[in-house]
Amino acid sequence: MAIQIKSIEQLKSMRKAGLVVAHALGLMKDAIAVGVTTRQLDAIAVAYLNETGATPSFLNYHGYPAVICASINHQIVHGIPNDRPIKDGDLVSIDFGAIVEGWHGDSAISVVAGNVDPHDQHLMDTCEESMWAGIAAAKVGGHLTDMSFAIESYINSQGKYGILREYGGHGIGTEMHMEPHILNYGKAGLGPTLKAGMSFAIEPMITRGGERMVVLDDEWTVVSADKSRGAHFEHTFALLPDGKPFVLTAIDGGKERLGALGIEISPLLS
Ligand code: MF3
Ligand code: CO
Repeated sequence: MAIQIKSIEQLKSMRKAGLVVAHALGLMKDAIAVGVTTRQLDAIAVAYLNETGATPSFLNYHGYPAVICASINHQIVHGIPNDRPIKDGDLVSIDFGAIVEGWHGDSAISVVAGNVDPHDQHLMDTCEESMWAGIAAAKVGGHLTDMSFAIESYINSQGKYGILREYGGHGIGTEMHMEPHILNYGKAGLGPTLKAGMSFAIEPMITRGGERMVVLDDEWTVVSADKSRGAHFEHTFALLPDGKPFVLTAIDGGKERLGALGIEISPLLS
């Protein structure tokens, strides 16, 4: 199966979905505090979907029972929201996806509630910046694994972190998960050639310890095997016909963070 190519009109719909995801994650980020439950965060996403008329991407996806994923501390991804209050210093990763006009947006953030351990801050900063490095490495005419290599290289430049092997980024469009799978590690210059109109979700998942993971009995929650804390960041972006990227799930389209890496974003979706 080929990688889906979108027209500018279709990418404008994806931008609408991306903005719903971005605004909802912003509301959830602002609400994260000691004593708040992840089920309350899920309710914020549900309310925002109702307000905007967008559809959740995750609910019922292979039977997934909620609108967001909320993963705390050694839970790395795919945690199911529950009624346990968030504690001081908890590292909370929130993943959220929405559909507008049939097109998906998918994004994730990690945040610490209350007092932040500097090691957790470095873990989160490394994870987030590796995502931007991956996006910055995507060029029309380049290769898929240029992103993988950039993500891994950045992480390894920052210290000894475990990079989850079993999960990675993905193509995204009329479905949340589409071809290709995007590893968060590996050599550059391999895989399909990147073309204008492609869109990808880039999502490094790293731990302060090893790369091994376990899926809990709830069949969703992914925890680190060594109980080390993990971080997860994700953005959905597209390559435009002018050869430039645009980050569909970033409120500013990625202008600031890609600009800092010397990458200009496309004006075509503004
Ligand atoms: N956002 C996640 C990803 O990119 C998907 C969550 S899995 C679901 O892979 F089942 F909750 F949808
Ligand atoms: Co994703």
